[in-house]
Amino acid sequence: MKRDFLTLLDLSAEEISALLKRAIDMKSGIDANKCPLIGKSIGLLFEKASTRTRVSFEVGIYQLGAHPIYLNPNEIQLGRGETIPDTARALSRYLDAIVIRTFGHGLLAEFSAHSSVPVINGLSDLHHPCQALGDLMTILEKKGRLKDIRVAYVGDGNNVANSLIEAASVTGMNLTIACPEGHEPDADVLERVRAVANSEILILREPKEAVGRADVVYTDVWVSMGQEKESKKRKKRFKDYQINSKILSCAKKDVVVLHCLPAHRGEEITDEVMDGPQSAVFDQAENRLHAQKALLEMLVS
Ligand code: CP
Ligand code: NVA
Repeated sequence: MKRDFLTLLDLSAEEISALLKRAIDMKSGIDANKCPLIGKSIGLLFEKASTRTRVSFEVGIYQLGAHPIYLNPNEIQLGRGETIPDTARALSRYLDAIVIRTFGHGLLAEFSAHSSVPVINGLSDLHHPCQALGDLMTILEKKGRLKDIRVAYVGDGNNVANSLIEAASVTGMNLTIACPEGHEPDADVLERVRAVANSEILILREPKEAVGRADVVYTDVWVSMGQEKESKKRKKRFKDYQINSKILSCAKKDVVVLHCLPAHRGEEITDEVMDGPQSAVFDQAENRLHAQKALLEMLVS
């Protein structure tokens, strides 16, 4: 039976914990010469731009002994009107798994319904679960544990925030989100995790209140891919939600700053913070590679 990874909750708490342990081992060089996916082929169908997700998957797939195939929707028949179900059925005959980056989350579910191989969400408008795996790995690495770690997320209640909420709910991190009214995380995501959460998830307005006593401060862009038309309005709406030295001084002294990247320096985060001693954003970017290798090993081999 194939296993998909469309949201973080597609893995159990035990599986996430095992995956993170495996990712940390892989990063340390254990089994570097083992190629558990030798002879396999994994597709990467990306409808949006990507630097980290695309490259970390391509490199990780190669390191596991498999072959990555990047698929631009405009260069396959999907771009000329072939349906999602037919594309999924055909690609399942060649590939051993497929990573998809898309707009509407529904496309992933539709693709999955017609695919006989695992479908991995490489970002949708609603979720970014592979990012959350890298985030958890980074927090674990920097703080030594996840349970009861206080994470403050400041900014847009977007795909990254939604997956972080799910990550907090399964690992016992306490998450406080500061966002402007009307930019809260997805209501269904919140309702689902609140029903099972073993952690505290708070939504409030005041960034300082969220950052106070935080172990980890996280932010993301104010204008996500696909929202470019709202750019001017959003930049105005979020202007008080910047992570800068002043706000960071409210957090714990050993606070770690995360950003999924790409950053819009001078908007949601200042150069000073991004390049400062508390920033772990490039370790976080690197950890995408290790976490996704562990994910592929779990789902594909
Ligand atoms: N964080 C992230 O997913 O980056 P890319 O858009 O570059 O893949
Ligand atoms: N929220 C951002 C994340 C990019 C990795 C976006 O969807 O564009």
